[in-house]
Amino acid sequence: MYLTDEEKRMLAGEEGEAVRLSMEILTKFGDVYGAERLAPVRSVHASCMYPNFSVAVEMMEKFAELGGKFRTVTTVNPTVNPPNINRWAEFPEPEELKEAAIRQMSAIRSMGVIPNWSCTPYFQGNLPRRGEPISWIESSAVIFANSVLGARTNRTTMGVDIASAITGRVPEFGLLLDENRVGNVLVKLEFQPESMFDYNTIGFIIGKAFSGRVPVIEGLPSWTTANHLKVMGAASATRGGIAFYHAVGITPEATNSEQAFKGRTPELELSIREKDIKAAIEEMCTIKGDKVDAVLVGCPHPTVGEIKELTELLNGKKVRQDIKFCLFASSDVIGWSRQMGYIDVLEASGVRIFEGDCIIFHNIEAWGWQNIATNSAKYACSLPPGPTYLDVLYTDIKGCVDLATT
Ligand code: F3S
Repeated sequence: MYLTDEEKRMLAGEEGEAVRLSMEILTKFGDVYGAERLAPVRSVHASCMYPNFSVAVEMMEKFAELGGKFRTVTTVNPTVNPPNINRWAEFPEPEELKEAAIRQMSAIRSMGVIPNWSCTPYFQGNLPRRGEPISWIESSAVIFANSVLGARTNRTTMGVDIASAITGRVPEFGLLLDENRVGNVLVKLEFQPESMFDYNTIGFIIGKAFSGRVPVIEGLPSWTTANHLKVMGAASATRGGIAFYHAVGITPEATNSEQAFKGRTPELELSIREKDIKAAIEEMCTIKGDKVDAVLVGCPHPTVGEIKELTELLNGKKVRQDIKFCLFASSDVIGWSRQMGYIDVLEASGVRIFEGDCIIFHNIEAWGWQNIATNSAKYACSLPPGPTYLDVLYTDIKGCVDLATT
């Protein structure tokens, strides 16, 4: 791999051991993927919560002990109970998970992370421009950055995120290169999406059909919002490992289909009609019977607008005693929503607020849940992280509220 003189000095340890170790990781990682050089990055989205806690804690603390300091704008994904809340009394966790979470948070904070604890860093000031190389973790954020913002990132992996933040570098391969940003499959939307739920479901269908491809989507309405694309991308990424798509007339590298395909012929085509939406909803609903233990909303983390909608649906109603209604959201959105009076209404209705948090990291099996309802296609296809024992009722936000209150 070609290295600049400055990078050679970094690798030789002239800027300290944390930088040297980071450069060693990046160059070895880049060699595995055939990267010819490192790209400079100023934006990193990291994670400090990994399923293998002992390895993750050891790695994070090692970087911190070696004096690692972030030189990029570095945000961080949700974690288990960030310091600003403590739900461990009502939702207990194993001691080793609690300890791992606290130690990882402490280490990453000492290196200079912006403690947004959210999977929507682009809504919290980590906003790269079109064409900018970045190093981001978290599949829903990666697909948003690539597709909606036009920035360039692979799905950065554990350790590489921290090494990128310490060095301001990432190996240049995959989606950082022009040749890998060309559409190769075509999606024709023959159905007018109207709601967040529709966009969620479309994302699931695309992910299922075109795992690992670069879809070009024709037919999304011109009023499609960034928030619609947030949920659609999250579902595609989770169901099919998609990290980048073009939406013709909507996303920045697809003014038209020709630009998205760069003159190539699509290898496959898929039409999505209303009946496909219905079939996908049925497929995601694995529940038998009509009882749920919990309702989970806020994946990916919601905007204030989504919280407002939930508040209006719940206003004056009470969540049943036998159902936990859990809302996951970033601290900034919770703060603004509190100022606007929404959080008071939600808490009075019995909603449990999980600030900067995500259900994925919790030990939900120990809570005795068997069936959950969610409006998120990402949650519907990724819960739980281990062997499936949870059954899912996938329904829109109104369905979630009706179910929880009647
Ligand atoms: Fe975010 Fe967790 Fe969903 S990290 S995208 S709320 S699975």
